[in-house]
Amino acid sequence: MEIIASAPGKTILFGEHAVVYGEPAIAGAVNKRATIRLKEASDVSIFKSNDLGFEAELDTVAKRYRLKKGKPGIIKYILEILHKCHDHSPIELDLSLDIPIGSGLGSSAAVTVATLAALFKYQRKKFNKSFIAKKAHEIENNVQGVASPLDTRVSTFGGLIYLSKDKKISKFDTNLKSSFVIGYTSKRGNTGRMVKSVKSLKNRNPMVVNPIIKTIGKITDEAKIAIIKKQEFKLGELMNINQGLLDSLGVNTNELSRMVYLARKAGASGSKITGAGGGGSIIACCPRNQDRVFKALSYHDNAIKVNFSNRGVFVKE
Ligand code: MEV
Repeated sequence: MEIIASAPGKTILFGEHAVVYGEPAIAGAVNKRATIRLKEASDVSIFKSNDLGFEAELDTVAKRYRLKKGKPGIIKYILEILHKCHDHSPIELDLSLDIPIGSGLGSSAAVTVATLAALFKYQRKKFNKSFIAKKAHEIENNVQGVASPLDTRVSTFGGLIYLSKDKKISKFDTNLKSSFVIGYTSKRGNTGRMVKSVKSLKNRNPMVVNPIIKTIGKITDEAKIAIIKKQEFKLGELMNINQGLLDSLGVNTNELSRMVYLARKAGASGSKITGAGGGGSIIACCPRNQDRVFKALSYHDNAIKVNFSNRGVFVKE
């Protein structure tokens, strides 16, 4: 018996950093996914991936592994899941991943969500999506020390979501057709460090920084209306304003800035940092010119074309 589970990556469209201070945010699942094939193994648990070129034997009791080839960074999440949620009977996990690692598209959350769904199905456990989202967030917290529940929620439920000031999540009742391009450098951002640096800037300059954070919240609310009305050019304009404010919070870098302006020059209606900044990724809204923006960004850096997707985690046998 083989079980297949698949979960999408995500991107933040509006509200990063401001969300830490209770402002709303908009994030969405994308059409790039992590897929896990799970089956019984004979004597030792195995985690492998042809896409990432690795294979490892797992000691799920001691949370250790022995590499046979490659070097999978993502293995920490798998070991944590099998240690916490499995009876240690041997299984084989085969990962296919079309979400680039380090692109800011939430590859670890997608792998975690897909693995948990496959495992619960294999164990014949009764589960629903809320349970998977909760467990996946626990696993990410254990591995990373701190994790935003947004990544695992979006990956579990799919769709474009609005996180309100009182932390309620609602799915958009819209089918935004716009295409996007994600650009990312090889230098990863450090979320914890960036959140801390915004906090100390805010503490030193509360009268200036507090209104900036409030304005990012207002932009997110305006963007919510633009998404519902499918006003893609307005959405781009709001992304550009949000980018200016993220820059003022000190989370921009030369590389991110270069990508932001390259994307706009190539015809994006708007572009901004996505995620914590300080390295990492930008997102460009491309109602037209997606190919041109993709080409412009891939010339110096890495780029990937994405669309929002309503499809969250699913499992089949
Ligand atoms: C990071 O992807 C987004 C931040 O707002 C941090 C968070 O919400 O946990 C910077």
